[in-house]
Amino acid sequence: MKKIIAILFVAVATTGLLWPQSPRAAEERADDVSTFMRAKLEHSKNVLEGLATEDFDLIAKDSQQLTLLSLDSDWQVLQTPEYARLSLAFRKTSQTLTDSAKKKNLDGATLAYVQMTLKCVECHKYVRSVEMTRL
Ligand code: HEC
Repeated sequence: MKKIIAILFVAVATTGLLWPQSPRAAEERADDVSTFMRAKLEHSKNVLEGLATEDFDLIAKDSQQLTLLSLDSDWQVLQTPEYARLSLAFRKTSQTLTDSAKKKNLDGATLAYVQMTLKCVECHKYVRSVEMTRL
């Protein structure tokens, strides 16, 4: 009996270490994705600050960061053509935002910011719909 308990103990203890899909590993990955995704929010808040205070450098810097994030492997949460299309559409708006800021075109940058925000919402709607069908 003691032997069985010992074997069970070892089995339980090692699955946590060896099984790559352990809940803890999945949780840590989810945390990483969450941190990565929240960075988008920080950058877009900074862009809004730049628009409100006519700080073109701030707009250009943070919209460029958003473009870079959209190219990162952490961004590729879903491997679907629709997700790729939405990512590309998003990137076009963040690039327009940077271009407008570099040209010191405040109205153009503000418009691009609104268009970019629509892309945030559009992609999140899509991601939620995929998650719903998976449940
Ligand atoms: C092409 C798709 C796409 C675009 C565009 C996009 N996101 Fe996301 N976003 C995601 C995905 C995928 C997640 C993760 C959803 C999940 O956890 O299941 C996410 C999650 C988030 C989260 C939640 C993070 C958390 O877990 O706390 C925030 C905040 C966020 N995004 C902000 C933004 C902002 C701001 C923009 C626009 C500037 C944006 N996103 C554009 C795909 C996108």
